Amino acid sequence: MKLIPLYYLLTFTFLAHIVFSQNTSSPDPLYHICFGEQNYSSSYGKNLQALLNSFSVTVPPTGFGLGSIGQAEDRVNGFALCRGDIEYRDCNTCLVTATSEIHKRCPYNKGGIIWYDNCAVKYSDEKFFGKIDVTNKVYMWNLNNVTDPNVFNKKTRDFITNLSEKAVVPSMKLFATGEMALGGYSDEKLYGLVQCSRDLSSSDCKKCLDDAVTELPNCCEGKRGGRVIGGSCNIRYELYPFVKA
Ligand SMILES: *[C@@H]1O[C@H](CO)[C@@H](O)[C@H](O)[C@H]1NC(C)=O
Ligand SMILES: *[C@@H]1O[C@H](CO)[C@@H](O)[C@H](O)[C@H]1NC(C)=O
Ligand SMILES: *[C@@H]1O[C@H](CO)[C@@H](O)[C@H](O)[C@H]1NC(C)=O
Ligand SMILES: *[C@@H]1O[C@H](CO)[C@@H](O)[C@H](O)[C@H]1NC(C)=O
Repeated sequence: MKLIPLYYLLTFTFLAHIVFSQNTSSPDPLYHICFGEQNYSSSYGKNLQALLNSFSVTVPPTGFGLGSIGQAEDRVNGFALCRGDIEYRDCNTCLVTATSEIHKRCPYNKGGIIWYDNCAVKYSDEKFFGKIDVTNKVYMWNLNNVTDPNVFNKKTRDFITNLSEKAVVPSMKLFATGEMALGGYSDEKLYGLVQCSRDLSSSDCKKCLDDAVTELPNCCEGKRGGRVIGGSCNIRYELYPFVKA
């Protein structure tokens, strides 16, 4: 029997607890947030629809797309990002779901963001490209504890920080995964993933990831799995192999 880890999820702004079971094939997102002004004009709506439609076509080959459509107050800006290690087909499947779900879930707001295991989509009337998003943020953690939190927490921080350095090497496209034997008494392995939205510079990506690491005490220290998921970057560690080799 395969055990599905149970998660708690905590949003930065709402402090809502939701018991969450992981299911990558389900259309349920990890989380979504609607933001910005409400009740946009019909031309904003058309531009938004056009932008969202374009993502599931243009993004899968490269895993990332950035776009703006429209003029003045009807201009909508957005990006779509797939997890760095997934294939064209999974990227496309995820974006088809994500773009339609976020539109359904945020019918009035000018801005929205939705996160899945395999992809994320964000849009806004503000031109947010190249800026670190410090507002939209979600924490998730495995309910189970590790046995020696002090050693584990330090190793996890160092491991994620090392992955962040790897991710900002130009050829890595702001994405890195890795695994590490925990050593000592434990024969378990730690698996990690870090990724930034590719509108960030590599120095801002590093800053975003470093900030995410400093937030681990808010959610995840001593837990067998944890994620800090933001509008510009995300980090994740687990004690099971969730990353593709
Ligand atoms: C995961 O999602 C798939 C497709 O929606 C469903 O068939 C399956 O039962 C789900 N598994 C769990 C554990 O919820
Ligand atoms: C937006 O429109 C909906 C539907 O007409 C309405 O229920 C809601 O109160 C409106 N919100 C604002 C902020 O005007
Ligand atoms: C993990 O540790 C916390 C804090 O010590 C405790 O409240 C919680 O019940 C523990 N969880 C499990 C699954 O043992
Ligand atoms: C992080 O990288 C440093 C320098 O390369 C290395 O000495 C250290 O063992 C690494 N730590 C982890 C936890 O991966």
